[in-house]
Amino acid sequence: MRSLQSLSGMGSRFTGIRLHPPANKDGPTFSKERAMKTESQVIELPAERGMIAVQSPELSIIVPTFNERDNVLEVVNRLETCLSKNSWEVIFVDDDSRDGTAARIREIAQHNPRVRCVQRIGRRGLSSACVEGMMASSAPYLAVMDADCQHDESVLPRMLDILKAEDADVVVGSRYVDGGGIGGWNASRAKMSRFATRLSRTVIKQNLSDPMSGFFALRRSVLELAVHRLSNIGFKILLDLIASSPQPLRLRETPYTFRVRHAGESKLDSQAVWGYVMLLADKLVGHIVPVRLVAFSLVGAVGVFVHFAVLSTLFGVLSTPFRYSQAAATIAAIASNFALNNVLTYRDMRLRGWKWIKGFVSFGLLCSLGALANVGIASYLFKRDTFWALAAIAGIVVGAVWNYSVTSFYTWSKEGRGPRS
Ligand code: GDD
Ligand code: MN
Repeated sequence: MRSLQSLSGMGSRFTGIRLHPPANKDGPTFSKERAMKTESQVIELPAERGMIAVQSPELSIIVPTFNERDNVLEVVNRLETCLSKNSWEVIFVDDDSRDGTAARIREIAQHNPRVRCVQRIGRRGLSSACVEGMMASSAPYLAVMDADCQHDESVLPRMLDILKAEDADVVVGSRYVDGGGIGGWNASRAKMSRFATRLSRTVIKQNLSDPMSGFFALRRSVLELAVHRLSNIGFKILLDLIASSPQPLRLRETPYTFRVRHAGESKLDSQAVWGYVMLLADKLVGHIVPVRLVAFSLVGAVGVFVHFAVLSTLFGVLSTPFRYSQAAATIAAIASNFALNNVLTYRDMRLRGWKWIKGFVSFGLLCSLGALANVGIASYLFKRDTFWALAAIAGIVVGAVWNYSVTSFYTWSKEGRGPRS
């Protein structure tokens, strides 16, 4: 199908131009109002001077990258080989990698107009990168694939065929159906993947053998219906999309074998596990309480342990005067809370270097105010005959909410986001 692009001014005559057939032909349905906007396929474009006919891609492949400079050309070459019969583009979404990945992608794009680069500054995260890449595309079909050649790109034409022919909404590349495999994974990673798959049942009801897959294709309408509800946390964008969909999706699976990485290193670390826990928590309770507040409170509970560990060592074991022991324990708890929140609660806007020190100071000062509010409210209630434990809990809750609100604003503000890593 063809679309037209206007390069210069308006012509005097207007012609109806048919764009791509609706990707959501029989897929998830829009509200009436939305349907009017997105499904009306005939638009008016000026037909005279300055018009050139261009082929717009039917499939956009979104590839998130973080330090993948030595892989991107290989990915493009492989896509060229396997998609020679399709109309496609590849959108790399790079989180300002230090190794010059974005520059390499742009270099390739200079010679190949199918290649595009979205370079994000001051942000990190595989899921959110994929979403931004998908939003930067206007193709009716989208696919997500890693940049390290671990996903078998030769499956893409088949995924596209299934989406079109079987009226499926999402086609998932699965390692766990007949014909698929996990390649050279060690036993512990395979076990972890199986456990994570089982946990995913808490947020998605559909029967899917590989909901943790990072390799899948979908109709654009699936994204459009889910996009405002996405959590955008961590690595598991497929799970997020399915769990955020307002209506059940028609899912298909197609096998592939997970290959070994072409070059570079995996970014999946213990924090990706935490990101997964946060995603599940957001999907389960995020509509009631912000998931960052949950994480912040859990970190606060760890802080109480740290406080008592330091206090009992200094005061109980080393017989340091109580006042000094308590002061040291308070500083240790604030430091550990700050460090943990920085790597867990605010991983996507983690502070580093000089900004870490500034953040620590602001966190300490703001939390001291929280402590004052805590003690003030607890004492006030206690004086008015509130049971002591209830008074204490009220103080803790007010202090925690204060700490969370002000530090999320001042300590991990947008402007405070650290340099890339
Ligand atoms: N933009 C961006 N930002 N890209 C990222 C980030 C990030 O913060 N973190 C990782 N990536 C990119 C990597 O550059 C790579 O292209 C892709 O995301 C996957 O990262 P890997 O580090 O290679 O992950 P993996 O191989 O351990 O796991 C992948 O495959 C599994 C099986 O399909 C991921 O896709 C998992 O989600 C998936 O379960
Ligand atoms: Mn990988």
